[in-house]
This record gives sequence, structure tokens and C-alpha cells, in this order.
Amino acid sequence: MEYQQARRCRVVLVPLPFQGHITPMLQLGAILHSKGFHITIAHTQFNFPNPLNYPHFDFLALPDGIGAQTISADNFIATITAFNTKCKDHLQDSLARIMEKDDQHNKTACIIYDEYMYFAEEVAKHLRISSIILSTSSAAKMLSYIAVPMLQKNGYIPIQDSKMLELVPGLEPLRFKDLTITYFRKLDDLLQLMAKALDPRSSSSIIWNTMDCLEHLTLAKIKQEYQLPLFPIGPLHKTVPAISSSLLEEDHGCMSWLDKQPHNSVIYISLGSVASMDNKDIVEMAWGLANSEQRFLWVIRTGSTALPEGFQETVKDRGCVVRWAPQQEVLVRTAVGGFWSHCGWNSTIESISEGVPLICQPYFGDQRVNARYLTQVWGVGLEWENDMNRKDIEEAIRKLMVSKEGELIRQRAKELKEKIESSMNQGGSSYNSLNELVKLIWSF
Ligand code: UDX
Repeated sequence: MEYQQARRCRVVLVPLPFQGHITPMLQLGAILHSKGFHITIAHTQFNFPNPLNYPHFDFLALPDGIGAQTISADNFIATITAFNTKCKDHLQDSLARIMEKDDQHNKTACIIYDEYMYFAEEVAKHLRISSIILSTSSAAKMLSYIAVPMLQKNGYIPIQDSKMLELVPGLEPLRFKDLTITYFRKLDDLLQLMAKALDPRSSSSIIWNTMDCLEHLTLAKIKQEYQLPLFPIGPLHKTVPAISSSLLEEDHGCMSWLDKQPHNSVIYISLGSVASMDNKDIVEMAWGLANSEQRFLWVIRTGSTALPEGFQETVKDRGCVVRWAPQQEVLVRTAVGGFWSHCGWNSTIESISEGVPLICQPYFGDQRVNARYLTQVWGVGLEWENDMNRKDIEEAIRKLMVSKEGELIRQRAKELKEKIESSMNQGGSSYNSLNELVKLIWSF
């Protein structure tokens, strides 16, 4: 409460309503609440959280006309575009009504919005309040987006198959195959969305769920490009007491199983909230795990019907399969010695904050960028680039869990964890950035 003053200062948060984006925004809300701010979450009706789980926040529902649907790489852009066109008027009118009651003791300070919910900046500008962007992914991802106009100018886009394995000039160690734009069928739509998400317009600054010790050079390049204050205050989930933001029900039953397993013996497998293996890959993964003879906790979101006959009998109680795990709690457990991950940014941050080394199997979006940094820059992961076949899977798991090479990677992960912890301690970079951010918001 160090900056709390006699007046009440409201901060309005506008998350993109997908799991990987809601979580860091709610964590930021909890952090700012602990610093004395009054928090209003302006949330689409799509994936609207249960307010009873967050008694310390106010909620404002934004009609979005989307209805219930499953988000995939195919409808991602259309859905985001719909949010940006359909939610603006309601947010503007609702905030205008709230702000009518503002006085010298009660103030609406600013809107903090997910970079993809850019309509919120227009609302803030119209209401003459400040706005701040929350970037929920890595700085490296943003740098790879910023480079797109240069790549277009130099004739690299659309990317030719023959170039896939070449390093991208200025973005090393990324290869062309690691760029988000490489896999999108509707490239023009993606380029338009990127341009909108990248444009800070009148926003005063950018908050990041990253750490200076992790992405110092990248953040410096972005700062040079934008000439705006950047606040890398991550890892958000370690800065705030745990809050549950899970859209799916967590299976806590696996925790008692996990607690019975020896130190560093379990590989945790999860692909986040969007990516998934097809049935054929699930079968290969199952036999790869069984043949590796390692213990495992495996999240199969899409149902376990595809597990092959004889698998359960083979692995017995050496493995545990759930639909959705309490991931942050899982990664804290000392039994977990490795993470087979799609490398979404939240999973990445959650894993490295606990010193858990990874096998990196990226699918789309920013995941390839994160995987590349995890394996080539921070040295805390093994790159998985093969087709899914049981023999290679078995080998990769053994390599991470029980080989000399795996031990070195685990050692580096432990050292990175220590650096991250230092950045959060008094005087560390994330600690200082958060104080600066809080000061800035009070000054609005
Ligand atoms: C999406 C994109 O896919 C990702 O690339 C981007 O960086 C963020 O948005 P998602 O696929 O859900 O995110 O992955 P990730 O960012 O890793 O977030 C998943 C979240 O779900 C994590 O916070 C993780 O703790 C949680 N989770 C995952 C669970 O709580 N239980 C699980 O079983 C799996």
C-alpha cells in the first residue's frame, strides 16, 4: 500500500478473453489492487469470469455478439476483430457514466488493455484518460512483429519454402520457420491485425509479463523503436498471491499422486488451452511415454478416448492423465523434472520461474519464437522438431530426464530461476519496474 493516498483511484482493465491472456491481466489486477488501486475488469460476455471468484474486483460486461465458440488458429483474427468493433460503444458509455461520479476523492486513472483489444485506446482518448498496453507475450515476439514491414520491403514475404531454415536478418536466432506469419493462410488479415496491435497510438507505456534479466537486449530495441516507458514486471504469477483464472475445471486429484513421486522424476505434458495433438499423435506420445519408463503427468484437454489399448496396463501408476491440471501448482512441485510444452508464453514463464527444463514442441503464433529462445538463447530446453513417433519421443524424454545433457539443461534452468527470483526481490529489475508503474498510475 506504499502509494495509497486518501483518494480512490480506479484502474480499468480490458483483457483479451482467451485463457492465455485473461490470466496475466487478472494477475496484473491483483497486483495493482494490492498497491491500493480500485480495479474494474471490463470483460467481453464471451468467457466472462465468475465475479464471485474475484470479490476484490468490479466487473463490467461488454456485449460482443460472439456467442459460444471454440477459438482456433482459424477464427482467431475474425474473433478479435469482432471484439474491437462490437465492444467499444458499450465500454465508452459505461465508463462515461462511472466517471460522471468522479471527484477529487474518486478518480478513474487509466485503462490498461491487452494489445489486441486496441479499441480501448480510442475509448480512453475519447474520455480524456490515459491508457497503457499490457503485452501478454514475450518481447521477442513483439520484435519479430516489428520486423515485418522491413521483411516485406526486402521481398521476404510471403516466405518461400527454400528460406525456412535460414536465419532472419536482424532477428537471429529466429529462422523464417519460427515467424508467426509463416503459418497463416490469411496473411493479409494477420498483417493488418499485427499493425493494429503494434500501434501504441496515444498509450503512455507498455507493461510486460517478462523480466529484464531474460529479455534485456530485446526490450532495449523495442524501447528505441517506440520511445515509450516499458515496464517488465514479470513473472506476474509470482508477484501476487495465487488467483484462479482457469476457464476449465482443474483436476486437483493429480496433486496427491504427484506428491508421492520422487524428486525430479516426473515429466509434465501440456499444450495449453488452444493447441492439441490429433489422435495419431496421442497414440505415439502414449507409447513414447510408456517406453521411456519415466513417470509422467499428462494433460489431454480434448478427452482421453484416444489412449491406446494396453497403455494403462503398461504404465500402471507410473503415470497420471487429466483433462486440465492446476499447472502453476504442478510446476512448483519438486517431483516435476521436465515439461513437454507448446511454449505458450504463460507456460514458458511458469516453467522457467520454477527452474523446470522443457521439451519445446511449438504449434503456432508466438510459440515458435518462445521455443527458439528457450532452446538457443536461454539454453533451458530441447527443441522438438520431429514428426511425432514413439521412438524419438522416448529418446527425447530420456534425454531431458536422465541424460548428462539433460542434467546440464536442468542446471541452467536452476540458474535462470535464481536470476528471476533476484529480479523480484527488493532492488531487482521487476521490483523497481513495478514501483515505477505504480507511481505513474498515481500521477495520472
Ligand atoms: C495462448 C497462445 O497459444 C500462446 O502462444 C500465447 O503466448 C498466449 O495465448 P495458451 O495456448 O493457453 O495461450 O498457452 P499459455 O500461454 O501457456 O497459457 C496457458 C495457461 O493455462 C497457463 O497459465 C497454464 O498455467 C494454464 N493451464 C494449462 C492450466 O492451468 N492447466 C493446464 O492443464 C494447462
